[in-house]
Amino acid sequence: SSTRSRRMTAVVQAVAQRAGTIDVQRNENFGKLRAGYLFPEIARRRKAHQEKNPDAKIISLGIGDTTEPLPKYIADAMAKAAAGLATREGYSGYGAEQGQGALREAVASTFYGHAGRAADEIFISDGSKCDIARIQMMFGSKPTVAVQDPSYPVYVDTSVMMGMTGDHNGTGFDGIEYMVCNPDNHFFPDLSKAKRTDIIFFCSPNNPTGAAATRAQLTELVNFARKNGSILVYDAAYALYISNPDCPKTIYEIPGADEVAIETCSFSKYAGFTGVRLGWTVVPKALKYANGEPVHADWNRVMTTCFNGASNIVQAGGLACLQPEGLKEMNAMIKFYKENAQILKTTFTEMGFSVYGGDDAPYIWVGFPGKPSWDVFAEILERCNIVTTPGSGFGPAGEGFVRASAFGSRENILEAVRRFKEAYGKRN
Ligand code: MLT
Repeated sequence: SSTRSRRMTAVVQAVAQRAGTIDVQRNENFGKLRAGYLFPEIARRRKAHQEKNPDAKIISLGIGDTTEPLPKYIADAMAKAAAGLATREGYSGYGAEQGQGALREAVASTFYGHAGRAADEIFISDGSKCDIARIQMMFGSKPTVAVQDPSYPVYVDTSVMMGMTGDHNGTGFDGIEYMVCNPDNHFFPDLSKAKRTDIIFFCSPNNPTGAAATRAQLTELVNFARKNGSILVYDAAYALYISNPDCPKTIYEIPGADEVAIETCSFSKYAGFTGVRLGWTVVPKALKYANGEPVHADWNRVMTTCFNGASNIVQAGGLACLQPEGLKEMNAMIKFYKENAQILKTTFTEMGFSVYGGDDAPYIWVGFPGKPSWDVFAEILERCNIVTTPGSGFGPAGEGFVRASAFGSRENILEAVRRFKEAYGKRN
């Protein structure tokens, strides 16, 4: 009957409606985040520009992504490990979640031999960014957080996701202590004015400003953390780009840092591993929570629970990086990108811009005072077909600057310089 079929229809509709209605609330912290993560947002704008200008040969000095082929010695080690997987003798399944013993040893002796870190304090991973997110799991939602302003956006965004912050107030997130770093303070925060927080994220050489902190400054930072009983999460991803002998390449060169600091680092910008993926985090045994429990034990728990170890093929590549031949090739690669940085820095300086960074880091920080940095980004893209990164994407104090990455082929860097000169050369 028609009554029966009407009833059937109503039931079908109700089920259909129900199927589309999830009864789970969104993690409200995700609602606090602004737009997309910085680099995908830049990629979106680049794509839109390309669609509007199909013939444009866009050069990216945006995301710090390596461009040069892997050193052969390092690639060969990975190829050999991959081929070995096809043999009974060479096959391996799960490895230690903390990384292969030989690689932990090699990282400890190569980078921390002079700074007292042992192999069992090194945890190998798929990269610094992922480690920063996992480090946040240890802290939970209660701690307060400080960052350099400007800084790598992952510190703030993961703090927001964890629920450590309030809402965005139009300038920054409530509850985050933004420690301003600008030309006036030589890009090192005035710690006498900084509020005490539980966690301090600090990156040296800094992404995006390119400023490397000196031994005296890092001593001040470690003492500040010790005085306040704060944990320092020290991002050293660009440390090998440091030329200034006055700037330590690891926080553990500073006395007392082992009791307050976790350090993250990566092969990405050293060996062109941005796509290969390999990094590490150092958690000293001497670092303890307020109740005396070692942070090391919790980090081990996080890594064994949430991570299954870095790829065995990639770890073979990492080990090759740290052999004499690999180290030589890795250093040559860093030297190449540093030359790019000098070419960019010289160009902007000659055109009369205020330019920072570039000497101890693969990033150049260029001042466009009084102009919103997203507008400068758009203008450079429009006039030069060059992608940069707007300074404000790194924090409120990044407004008025853009970052140019020195990762690129020499040909592209020289072409970028030509276009910049053509568009902005007549400034003065
Ligand atoms: C950057 O451009 O800041 C870096 O590529 C980001 C990263 O290393 O994740």
